[in-house]
Amino acid sequence: MMNTPGLLPILATGLVHTYVGNRTWALAGVDFAVERGEVVALVGPSGAGKSTLLTLLDGRLRGWHGAASVLGLALGPDRPPDRVRRAEVGFIFQEFALVERASVWRNVLNGRLGRTDPLASLLGRSTAADYAAAEAALLDTGIAELRNRRVDRLSGGQRQRVAIARCLAQEPKLILADEPVSNLDPLRSERVLSLLARTARQRGSTLLFTSHQPELAALVADRIVAMRDGRVVFDGPPERLDPTELDKIYRDEPLEHAPEPVP
Ligand SMILES: Nc1ncnc2c1ncn2[C@@H]1O[C@H](COP(=O)(O)OP(=O)(O)OP(=O)(O)O)[C@@H](O)[C@H]1O
Ligand SMILES: [Mg+2]
Repeated sequence: MMNTPGLLPILATGLVHTYVGNRTWALAGVDFAVERGEVVALVGPSGAGKSTLLTLLDGRLRGWHGAASVLGLALGPDRPPDRVRRAEVGFIFQEFALVERASVWRNVLNGRLGRTDPLASLLGRSTAADYAAAEAALLDTGIAELRNRRVDRLSGGQRQRVAIARCLAQEPKLILADEPVSNLDPLRSERVLSLLARTARQRGSTLLFTSHQPELAALVADRIVAMRDGRVVFDGPPERLDPTELDKIYRDEPLEHAPEPVP
């Protein structure tokens, strides 16, 4: 499929980042593109740079080098993305970032905040379109019956669904999800991740998620990108990632092309 680079949901070249005070690269030269509608899993050992990459693409990382555009708009290392782009990118945090004392319904409706005009949102006014999107997200994630329950009275799995519903209510073109099923048992992980991928596909959204369960990621993703030491070390369809290669990526021993230390 041909794609105009400017229209790719994600296009990144030569991404480099090191956190202040660290002696290693968090990103050591990442080239990476995602096509519209793709479901891509980002895997790799702890500290590989997965969250750093997602944070950068979400416009929350400062001081990085390289070039990145998200939904056709260039990202800068020094400035936050504009309001319009913000509304088009949904982020699911590992810790959910829900309003604990508010109801499920209120949390899901909060997903619409970026889409409401600033004054209406200040006054807490929602439109018919906001209600319809929140309602659809509740139904799609199977938590409609929990709508009036306070979030701090939910199980981990239910909270994870609320976080996903809030993101879907936003109707983003691109969903970035950092370990969206990290707190769930294996069966629920598979169910919730499949749900996220399915709803993203149904809605024509592009999905990039990180996972510590490569086998599960391979079940739901169109493509696997594996990172190690701030670099992409595998990029291809799940069926091309063989267990020996995967084992090598996760082993503690240095890889052949280990990144140089920060000078
Ligand atoms: N806020 C921070 N300040 C300093 N160093 C950081 C910070 N966040 C991450 N790092 C470092 O940057 C590197 C990449 O971390 P990152 O969180 O991106 O890895 P990850 O692949 O998401 O790991 P995990 O699977 O454990 O979530 C690591 O060496 C980590 O220690
Ligand atoms: Mg992480």
